[in-house]
Amino acid sequence: MLERDGAMGQQRAFTERPEAGLPRHIAIIMDGNGRWAKKRRLPRTMGHRAGMNALEEIVRACNDMGVQVLTVYAFSTENWKRPADEVSFLMQLLLEYMKKKLRELHEEKVKIRLLGDSEGIPEPQREAIAEAVALTADNTGLILNIALNYGARREILRACQMVAQRVRAGELKPEDITEADVEAQLFTAGLPDPDLLIRTGGEMRVSNYLLWQIAYAEVVVTDVLWPDFGRPQLLAAVDEYWRRDRRFGGLGKN
Ligand code: FPP
Repeated sequence: MLERDGAMGQQRAFTERPEAGLPRHIAIIMDGNGRWAKKRRLPRTMGHRAGMNALEEIVRACNDMGVQVLTVYAFSTENWKRPADEVSFLMQLLLEYMKKKLRELHEEKVKIRLLGDSEGIPEPQREAIAEAVALTADNTGLILNIALNYGARREILRACQMVAQRVRAGELKPEDITEADVEAQLFTAGLPDPDLLIRTGGEMRVSNYLLWQIAYAEVVVTDVLWPDFGRPQLLAAVDEYWRRDRRFGGLGKN
């Protein structure tokens, strides 16, 4: 998968460590747009716009590298508390991203999925996402999960409710419920769990993001603000991932 797009620097780096393998799933908390703008005396909205450009580069980089799944935190269930004009700008930006980039993403074989409660998403955005999901459904490249109106506790709660309904219907006994039964009801059903969780902007928090799925993810926090996060920073995070000894609760290699 590394031969594409002449990404020579990446190819060299990856072939040096073929045994480690790429993270199959990378999840990102894209933080620091506001601070990026503030440093430049720009309105916060400009930071979000720059953040959209960074996202574009990272989607392409992950697709080029052969990462299977990229999950980005675009808008949390808590983000509705932001000032109305910022919320509305973010929603507009999402529409713009979908309208301008959909063709390109489709050509690059990216498969778009929504993680989140679609009912709480405004109609135009919901429709644009539904269109993107339908158009790219059969694509075989990177799976791009857009976490929008997403909160992990709500996701887990929703999964529990669905499992409870199966119990009520007599399909399942409470004592027979397995992790797989819960997983099957998460937005990420059928996908590998994130191997690597990246948070930009330096905060040491997981912010209600993929709480079930990141049980064994390697966490890399970087001070780099999201709009400044590009291919070199992504490679540095993957490099850090390679340096970790993943033990999954066992004793590992050392
Ligand atoms: C956090 O930065 C970022 C967000 C709440 C939104 C993320 C959105 C983008 C990257 C824009 C593009 C997304 C799509 C899907 C088009 P912050 O504002 O909390 O930064 P701060 O902590 O510096 O204030």
